[in-house]
Amino acid sequence: MKQLAIYPGTFDPFTNGHLDVLERALTIFDQVMVVIAENSKKQTLFSVEERCEMIETITEPLSGTRVEVLHGGLLAEYARNVGATAIIRGVRQVKDFEYEFQMSLLNRHLNPEVTTVFLMPNVKYTYVASSIIREVALLGGDVSKFVHPFVLKMLQKKYEEQNT
Ligand code: PNS
Repeated sequence: MKQLAIYPGTFDPFTNGHLDVLERALTIFDQVMVVIAENSKKQTLFSVEERCEMIETITEPLSGTRVEVLHGGLLAEYARNVGATAIIRGVRQVKDFEYEFQMSLLNRHLNPEVTTVFLMPNVKYTYVASSIIREVALLGGDVSKFVHPFVLKMLQKKYEEQNT
């Protein structure tokens, strides 16, 4: 039976660190579904449609991936509905762990059939976070080492919109 994992996140924007984690997950699972969580309470730079477009473009060369959106509701329920056996989460530093540990145990409580798998990205992405990428890019800094060229273009567009 094919093993399906879901890789959820806000991905605002999707970084090379996210891509690294996704590629690692694809070496373990047959299929990895990237799930963009829509959160009406969270202000994002990119709309769900923009994030979907960026992730679909970036992951186009990878087989075994697809992109979906979680329009509210619980991730644990979503995992059950799509038949996923694992939730992939990237951890970069020890400080990520407390929140991730809490989420994984809660998700396991809500859906005992799903296991959270933590993957560490390449050490060169240890300090790469979407929040810092957004901040640097909107202040005109160079983030080309940390995002795909397509994301870079989208960030540059936001920068121009903000400065016109
Ligand atoms: O990239 P992020 O913002 O760290 O991702 C957090 C995310 C989207 C994985 C988390 O907020 C989530 O799972 N949201 C869906 C709603 C849910 O199930 N919440 C309870 C988690 S225990």
